[in-house]
Amino acid sequence: MDGNGRWARRRGLPRVEGHRKGAKVVQTITRACRRLGIEALTLYAFSQQNWNRPPEEVQALMELLGEYIIEERAEILENGIRLSAIGDLTKLPSWVREPLGKLMEESSQNNDMELCLALSYGGREEILRAVKIIAEKVCNGEVQTKDISQDMIEENLWTSHLPPLDFVIRTSGERRLSNFLLWQAAFAEYYFTNTLWPDFEKEELMEALHSYGVRERRYGLTSEQIRGSGVSGVD
Ligand code: IPE
Ligand code: MG
Repeated sequence: MDGNGRWARRRGLPRVEGHRKGAKVVQTITRACRRLGIEALTLYAFSQQNWNRPPEEVQALMELLGEYIIEERAEILENGIRLSAIGDLTKLPSWVREPLGKLMEESSQNNDMELCLALSYGGREEILRAVKIIAEKVCNGEVQTKDISQDMIEENLWTSHLPPLDFVIRTSGERRLSNFLLWQAAFAEYYFTNTLWPDFEKEELMEALHSYGVRERRYGLTSEQIRGSGVSGVD
């Protein structure tokens, strides 16, 4: 979700107004995904690196997050949404972490859509953490080095409760991952748009999903293998 600051600047507004409009778009897009039957939606709301922004902006983002948790509570619970979070949540102020934890707990039995907030999240940090957990198990003899597998790494990522990542949308014209779901994105499809996040609306979500829908994901195989014809032609 990128481009909140530029959206505000173009209107001569403080950056926080861009974040506020961005939070509204989160609501619109979450509702749309829920109605469309999307199994899981992960929102990159705050990265590990975002902690280095000016303290006033970090504070404003935390306040917006706190408000979001209070304001969206009913909608999350009424719509069968299970809320989760990935990232180093210990860094969040307790007045955000506690209500967040409570809503995650309250919504834990919901099954209609997983809404996952990436907060204080970094992909490299996530992989490093998994490496340390596994190394610890090797050291205490629980696991043998030869038995370390991709599945084991996945089990120790913050995303272990999520289905495989299919599709990544990045707004605001940047064409990079910026430390988002690095391991998980190995076979994901990407959609880059110049639209700033506060202007991202349902119509563009539909366009993005359509673009996803017509792609062929081959995972290194041939088109014929994927289509199940078994005939390898010339292409
Ligand atoms: C994304 O918008 C929101 C967060 C990272 C929290 P930005 O704040 O990065 O907006 P730009 O990139 O400055 O336009
Ligand atoms: Mg940005």
